Amino acid sequence: MARQIKTIGVMTSGGDSPGMNAAIRAVARACSYYNVKCIGFYRGYQGMIDNDYCEMTARSVRNIISAGGTILKSARSKEFRTPEGRKKAADNLKAIGVDAMVLIGGDGTFRGGQVFSQEYDIPVIGVPGTIDNDIAGTNYTIGYDTALNTVVEAIDKIRDTASSHDRLFFVEVMGRDAGFIALNSGVGAGAEEILIPEEDLGLDRLLESLKRSKRSGKSSSIVVVSEGDKIGKNVYQLADYVTDNLPDYDVRVTVLGHMQRGGSPTCFDRTLASRLCVKAVELLLDGEADIMVGLLNNKIVATNFEKGLEGDHSINKELLRISDILSV
Ligand code: F6P
Repeated sequence: MARQIKTIGVMTSGGDSPGMNAAIRAVARACSYYNVKCIGFYRGYQGMIDNDYCEMTARSVRNIISAGGTILKSARSKEFRTPEGRKKAADNLKAIGVDAMVLIGGDGTFRGGQVFSQEYDIPVIGVPGTIDNDIAGTNYTIGYDTALNTVVEAIDKIRDTASSHDRLFFVEVMGRDAGFIALNSGVGAGAEEILIPEEDLGLDRLLESLKRSKRSGKSSSIVVVSEGDKIGKNVYQLADYVTDNLPDYDVRVTVLGHMQRGGSPTCFDRTLASRLCVKAVELLLDGEADIMVGLLNNKIVATNFEKGLEGDHSINKELLRISDILSV
C-alpha cells in the first residue's frame, strides 16, 4: 500500500525560467485542494541543506502566475553534489516531516533528484523548468516558449537597425549545449543563417551563404548563433573571421544573455506549468516516485528520470531545411 503523504515540499533549482512561479503556485494550490501541507524550500537543493523554507498556502501564492523569476529563488548547489550535503538535506526533510518533493528545474536538477531518490526513501518527482528545452521526457520545458518570444522580439528590433545601416549582425542566444532556442527563434525571426551545436555547418559554408545573400540583393543579414555552437569559434571570433574574409560586410555582435531568462511567462508556459504541477502532486499522492512529468504529444506523461534525461530529444532538422529555403 502506498504510504500516506501528508506534506509535500517544492523547490526551484538551476537556471531560472519564466513560468517557475506558475509552477510553484500550481503545487501549492494542488496541495491545498487535496488537504496536504506544502513547504517551499529556498534556493533549490541548498535550501533543503540549510533548512531554509516557508510554509506555502493557497493564498501565499496569490498573483504570482504572471511573474517572471521564482519567488523561491534558485541556485546550483555544489554541496548537494556531495553525499554529506544530500544527507543533511534528507535529515532535514525527515525532521520537518516532508514526505515527498516536487523538483522544478532542468537536467542538473533531475540528476540530483535521481541520485537523492536512490540514496533515500523520499519520493521525488521532477518538473521540467528551463529555457533550454533540452529534456527528453517532454516536448516542451517550462520557460522555453517565453524565451523564444523574448528572443524573436529582440531580433526583430536588431533587424530594424541592421537594415537601416546595411549591417550583418551575429546574435548569440542561450541554450548551453542545445540549439532549440537558436533554431526556432532563427526561423521565427527570419534569420539568414542559424548556427547550432547539433549541426556543424563549417566556416566555408557560412562564408558561401553570406556571399550568396549579398549577390541576391540583401543589404543586411542576421545570423543567430547558439552559445554552445561547435563551429570552433565564439561569436566574436566568428564576427572577426567574417570581417577578415568578407570586408564588404559591416559586422556587429549582440549577445542577448540573461534577458532571455526573464519576463512574464506566456500563456503557453503558464498552462504547461499548471498542468505539469497538478499532475506531479497527484502522482505523488498515488504513490508514484522517481519520475519526471512532461508534455508528450499534448498529453501529460510520466517518464523515469533516466529515460527523461538520456532519451532521444533531437532538434527538428527539418527546420534547418526550411530556414535554408526561406533565406534565399
Ligand atoms: O540552463 C539555462 C541557462 O540559461 C543556459 O542556457 C545557459 O548556458 C546557462 O543557464 C547560464 O547559466 P548562468 O546563469 O549560471 O550564467
